[in-house]
Amino acid sequence: MSTGAETYVGAIDQGTTGTRFMVFDHAGQVVANAYETHEQYYPEPGWVEHDATEIWENTKLVIVEALADAELDATDLDAIGVTNQRETTVLWDAHSGEPVHNAIVWQDRRTTDRIEQLEADGWADRIRAKTGLQPDAYFSGTKAEWLLDNADPIKLQRTRPQDIRERAEEGEVLFGTIDSWLVYKLTGAHVTDVTNASRTMLYNIHETEWDDELLEELRVPEAMLPEVRPSSDDEYYGFTDPEGFLDTEVPVAGALGDQQAALFGQTCFDAGDAKNTYGTGSFFLMNTGDEAVESDHGLLTTIGFQRSDEPVQYALEGSIFVTGAAIEWLEDVDLIEDPRETATLARSVDSTDGVYVVPAFTGLGAPHWDQRARGTIVGMTRGTRREHVVRATLESIAYQTRDVLEAMEADAGIEMNELRVDGGAVKNNFLCQLQSDVIGTEILRPQVDETTALGAAYAAGLATGYWETVDELRENWQVDRAFEPRDAADWDARYERWGDAVERAKDWAQE
Ligand code: G3P
Repeated sequence: MSTGAETYVGAIDQGTTGTRFMVFDHAGQVVANAYETHEQYYPEPGWVEHDATEIWENTKLVIVEALADAELDATDLDAIGVTNQRETTVLWDAHSGEPVHNAIVWQDRRTTDRIEQLEADGWADRIRAKTGLQPDAYFSGTKAEWLLDNADPIKLQRTRPQDIRERAEEGEVLFGTIDSWLVYKLTGAHVTDVTNASRTMLYNIHETEWDDELLEELRVPEAMLPEVRPSSDDEYYGFTDPEGFLDTEVPVAGALGDQQAALFGQTCFDAGDAKNTYGTGSFFLMNTGDEAVESDHGLLTTIGFQRSDEPVQYALEGSIFVTGAAIEWLEDVDLIEDPRETATLARSVDSTDGVYVVPAFTGLGAPHWDQRARGTIVGMTRGTRREHVVRATLESIAYQTRDVLEAMEADAGIEMNELRVDGGAVKNNFLCQLQSDVIGTEILRPQVDETTALGAAYAAGLATGYWETVDELRENWQVDRAFEPRDAADWDARYERWGDAVERAKDWAQE
């Protein structure tokens, strides 16, 4: 048990593959860390689900474990922040607090047809104008609609058999993204923050309110939706239950979708600041300040963050669905045994020998937006070896980032001369150097690479006054290593061939 007077801020980072709890000190350094993975369910091709109860159980587990390992007590925490895989949709029973169905994960493609129907009915421009989003099965709106039509009412039946939608209209079935679900379980409050709301395809990012017209079209009752709050909220979302697993009241005062949390953790507080996070997918965000910049090049306009009593800050986002997951795939098909091998294998050949891997396993996101694209390998010859395929997979991460960077520069009318990076894959120096070479831009890797959790901690700690100004946070940010672009290969020509390979991957799936 801690006896010291020093306090800390905790952050729950609930991601696609697992749940982490980290504790940070005032200098933004990690003092505790625990992680637990959860089951991935693939009930049908293209479907991906998580068990929200398992996620909640793991959340409690990692909090307790991290605190115990660092010999801390929950009373040492000044605040808790939450960050989460975005768009993943949970519906739960307000009475029992139990989910009515598995959560539908952001990668899930089951509502592709519904999106195509919306497009055919002329909704695309209106959706873009209101929500800043490209209509896609990626977002929560059509997932919520699917759940309301398909979740099993028997599971919900209490005193009378009722349709789920009918109970949702009475506020007895609640909707939330994972932030909402966890804050509800922690505090009992049914809230979300503006960044997560901006990923639902139900929220008007200009008016900053749920959009009546979209709710009506997708038949999502407003009574089931959470209250939308600032990402760093000095009125706090709520307190942990003193009778609950932490035995004390800790303010839960900040939440951000994980990509926005990384932007915050990288201290990208000013317009023009940008970061790229390499996780399951890669998400490249640029702060655009008070202005919601409309993209002409296939990017999303989204909410970056909001602090209490301050205007919403917007961002441009390039969402790349599969990058780290492509490395996992190499492991699944036994081309590698461990992700750490990829750098050695890739270095062992000078080039991919003309091979391109387009890992469009769940369609293509920004800037292509093709729901029916599928993974493709082109250019193989009898001489192709696994080293070439592994190298081509790493290069696909760098090329997809260049696709987004070029769109971002064109939309913002600026040339980016540095890019802050984070996420699991940036430990790989080969990848960081490759990325710098392919985009011709300096890559900066910070000392604390868990910037997602750090961003959520910053949001919560700013709300409680643990940190007083963002300048304190800027001072915490330190470079671990900078990667300068080298002119080692003809990257422009290779990038052009990559574009050809992407065309081959497009519009493949028929189901
Ligand atoms: O939009 C999806 C994104 O939030 C998922 O992030 O880190 O869980 O792969 P991650």
